[in-house]
Order: sequence, then C-alpha cells, then structure tokens
Amino acid sequence: MPKAKIAPSVLSSDFANLASEAARILQCGADWLHMDIMDGHFVPNLTIGAPVIQSLRKHTEAYLDCHLMVTNPLDYVEPLGKAGASGFTFHIEVAKENWEELIQQIKSKGMTPAVALKPGTPVEEVYPLLDGENRVEMVLVMTVEPGFGGQKFMPEMMDKVRSLRNKYPSLDIEVDGGLGPSTIDAAASAGANCIVAGSSVFGASEPAQVISLMRNSVDKMQQAN
Ligand code: DX5
Ligand code: ZN
Repeated sequence: MPKAKIAPSVLSSDFANLASEAARILQCGADWLHMDIMDGHFVPNLTIGAPVIQSLRKHTEAYLDCHLMVTNPLDYVEPLGKAGASGFTFHIEVAKENWEELIQQIKSKGMTPAVALKPGTPVEEVYPLLDGENRVEMVLVMTVEPGFGGQKFMPEMMDKVRSLRNKYPSLDIEVDGGLGPSTIDAAASAGANCIVAGSSVFGASEPAQVISLMRNSVDKMQQAN
C-alpha cells in the first residue's frame, strides 16, 4: 500500500501571506501543499493560477499538488510546468476527448499526472486512464462538489475509493473535501492514502495535531490490511 500523504489545501490559508502559511503548515508535518486552481467557469469560484504557483515556488521546495478545476486543463499544462508545479490533477468531466494528450503533455513538462472525479461521476470513467500504457499516477475522489472549502464530507463516495483500492492496490488515491478528525477513519478504511484537508487544518489551533491524527489513521488502516 502506498504511503500516507497529508496535503493541506492552501485555499483555507491566508492568501495574503502564502509563503509563511506554506512554511508554517510544512513545519506542522504536512507532506504536500494542495493548490486549488479554479477558473470561475468549471466551478463558480476563482482562485489562483500559474503566477501564484511561480511565486510560491521561490519560497518552498515542497510538492505542489495542483488540482485543476478548470474547463480547459490543456491550456494550463505549459504555464504550470514552467511555474514549478509538481502534480497536475485534471478533471475527467472535461477531458473525455483528450486525456491521452493531456497525460503525455503533463509528463513531458516533468509533472505527475492525476485525474479527479466529481461526486456525480462514476468511478468506471477513470479506469481507462489507469489501465493503458499512458497512465495517471493518482486518482482524486471528490468528497464534496468542487468549488469551495468548508463543505460537508459525502461518505457515499467511499464506495468509489473501495473499488479503486480493490482493483489497484498500489495506486495513490486522494480524497478532497470535508476531511478532518471526524471523517478521516471512513476515508482511510476505504483505502484512501492521500488526504486533502483545508478548513480542518488551517482552522485548527494545533494544526500539527490534526495532521498527525490523520496520518496515524491512514497508517493504522494500512497495518490492519
Ligand atoms: C474544493 C477543493 C478543496 C477544498 C477542501 O473544491 O478542491 O481542496 O479546499 O476544503 P475543506 O477541507 O475545507 O473541505
Ligand atoms: Zn482540491
């Protein structure tokens, strides 16, 4: 089973102090920084893009786990590659026609390709991206409707995580939305190992405790299996 990776979402941080927020949360034990890129079209919210990733890259060597909630992900591959993004996660709902080209381009720019699915999208839709020669290395199962932090975790999404874990024992499986101390066990026992958490981490008085609690939950479930 792949290792636990805790990825705080900087969407819930103070964007006006992004470099110090990133340093603080890494100091608290975060593995990755989850970067929510929204275009105001695929989702009804607008956040950051390549210029902000480029600025942050000057302040940290951390793995920047970029989640593209945009209608035209292909347009973002080159700028994000140049900006220093590490992972590039596109949504299958907008990549049905060109996912092969997307994966190729993402790899050619030195980033790790991954695919995300919204709550209403059946898990079977990402199987072709895991079975062929040109593969993604991670699947992000959305556990809220994408667009905003601070929403309620959807436990019914754990069926997708279980199906993926049964079929792909060594795959990185990420969950995103509503994760925190009260929902981590459901996600970890279903087989998720990459945990995105925004409000529960940045809103905590002791973020290090929340991060370590979530890591322990993933580690414990893995040992039990
Ligand atoms: C939602 C984003 C999430 C969000 C998670 O569209 O993809 O990454 O920041 O926030 P929480 O953990 O507060 O649900
Ligand atoms: Zn996200």
